[in-house]
Amino acid sequence: MSKAKVAVLISGRGSNMAALLYAAKAGTCPYEIVLVAANDPDAAGLTLAAAEGIATFGQSHKGIKRAEFDAIIDAQLRKAGAQFVALAGYMRLLSPEFVGKWAGRMLNIHPSLLPKYKGLDTHQRAMDAGDSHAGCSVHVVTAELDDGPVLGQTPVAILPGDTIDTLAARILIAEHQLYSRTLADFVMRERTPDYLLDRVRALALALPQVDEVTSHGMPCFGIEKGKKFAYFTQDHHGDGVLAIIVKTSAPEEQAMLIENDPDLFYRPAYFGTAGWVGIRLDGDEVDWDHIAERLARSWRTVAPRKLTGLMDAADAF
Ligand code: GRF
Repeated sequence: MSKAKVAVLISGRGSNMAALLYAAKAGTCPYEIVLVAANDPDAAGLTLAAAEGIATFGQSHKGIKRAEFDAIIDAQLRKAGAQFVALAGYMRLLSPEFVGKWAGRMLNIHPSLLPKYKGLDTHQRAMDAGDSHAGCSVHVVTAELDDGPVLGQTPVAILPGDTIDTLAARILIAEHQLYSRTLADFVMRERTPDYLLDRVRALALALPQVDEVTSHGMPCFGIEKGKKFAYFTQDHHGDGVLAIIVKTSAPEEQAMLIENDPDLFYRPAYFGTAGWVGIRLDGDEVDWDHIAERLARSWRTVAPRKLTGLMDAADAF
């Protein structure tokens, strides 16, 4: 499987970016850095990234409206093929539009044990409060500053005689470890069977009168007390495949899908000639809109007329 593509946004020194970049050099690292972008063309981190052969983009935000500047950055991220964004000392508040576009795909590192000490001067505030530990957190970025779900934290002891600089330097060591580990887990999460099954389950159970049973060891979705329309298959009979199996309208449609995109669709073994098709979930990126549409179509092939009639009426409305 190919590596997840990550872009890093920085504003200055970029030591966290460097930590991500060097961690990504390991063959086993599940992500690669495809772009380092900064809102300051002179950011020191850009020079390092370029020297390491990473694409860079630097432009000052000065004189440009926030949403417009974010749109410029967004265009660069898309051009680079980024799937995830890692903020690493990016000292710019983000527009809601930008945060919305990258919802659930953008992380930030913050030098405190969140929810404590959002914003600036975190080390000073931890020392002033007499805390035994300061630390760092990696969280998902949401519209509120330093507020999204925390994915990982490392507490760092405050030593007698610590200054802001000595404490910050020690926390930085912890940041560099924490960020790359947490980012690796995060990009892998969407490829785990549990995550994929949860997504499929949510879509299937959202259709009318659907329940879940286990059939031949597979989670399987059908009309309550009625016919099945989707199976979640994971390494069935040792085939190593993660997929859903849904009904098409006819064997001809099944054949056409497989012919047009043989990496995505396949003919499932043991499913007879009724036009069931496998759709792989273990490729680089799952198109969840497509999966939702295929599940709905499959549901229609087995749902009683009174239910499909209701759906038709709702669609027409
Ligand atoms: C780090 O302390 C990070 O936690 C905070 O900004 C600082 C960036 O440092 N968000 P660097 O540019 O990664 O060296």
